[in-house]
Amino acid sequence: MTISGAAKLAGVAGWPIGHSLSPALHGYWIAEYGLDAAYVPLAIAPEGFADAFKALPKLGFRGLNVTLPHKEAAFRLVDARDDAAEATGAVNTIVFEGVRALGRNTDVFGFAESLREAGVASLASTAVVVLGAGGAARGVVAALFSLGASHVHLVNRTAEKAEALAAHFGARIIVHRWAALPKLLSTAGLLVNTTSLGMVGQPPLEIDLKPMRHGVVADIVYRPLETPLLAQASKQGLKAIDGLEMLIHQARPGFAAWFGVEPTLTASLRGHLVSILEGRR
Ligand code: ATR
Repeated sequence: MTISGAAKLAGVAGWPIGHSLSPALHGYWIAEYGLDAAYVPLAIAPEGFADAFKALPKLGFRGLNVTLPHKEAAFRLVDARDDAAEATGAVNTIVFEGVRALGRNTDVFGFAESLREAGVASLASTAVVVLGAGGAARGVVAALFSLGASHVHLVNRTAEKAEALAAHFGARIIVHRWAALPKLLSTAGLLVNTTSLGMVGQPPLEIDLKPMRHGVVADIVYRPLETPLLAQASKQGLKAIDGLEMLIHQARPGFAAWFGVEPTLTASLRGHLVSILEGRR
């Protein structure tokens, strides 16, 4: 696929960036829709992010995705923020409009959309349990409230971090100790892992899902695609949602804003990304 001198430009800024799936994801859509556009990886060290942020619109970039460790810096640097960015204190998608930079957090949309696609339309009468209280947990919790959850039961190794997240979102977050999980799971309709446990190179997430009788288990980890948690969920008849779904859905709003096409998640796109994750490409 060739591009012209008028090609629309966007990219993903992170440090490191070599393992990002976003260039493959956006590149797939650019080819699918036959666009004159390019989406490139941008390896930007933390100390260089503010300079790069200023330079990129001058280089003609329409915007960018922002991943670790730049999401909070992006939040501070943009000129305006959407509700999801305000709710999470983090920006993962930037749209340059003239001299202004609009900051969005599409992780919130991405996670909510992965649940909707799995048939979860409303959480108004569902008991929800979230594991973890880091940056990823903030996006997930905001998404759960956007789907009508009245409360979120939060479990985290470090109590102070759980309390900090509860202070951010208010009384709708109920903090529990790890030991409370079996009881919580016995009434839960949705469990979400936002910790890094279960990821390649990290310790396993050791939870017994047996007390959970029905509902959905979602993992934001996607390396491996089927984490031991999701394998356990499927084995006992619970619906499992992997982290690749969220990753693909969070990319949609940025692509639409920069390139002018609303992209869709197809089985062939998912297959393409799965083959990359599995080292077949
Ligand atoms: P992210 O932005 O991806 O959420 P993070 O802010 O570093 O990353 O948060 C990582 C989450 O995984 C935290 O909830 C962390 O628990 P702590 O708050 O106790 O650190 C959780 N986590 C990471 N390693 C863990 C481990 N070995 N056991 C339990 N929880 C772990």
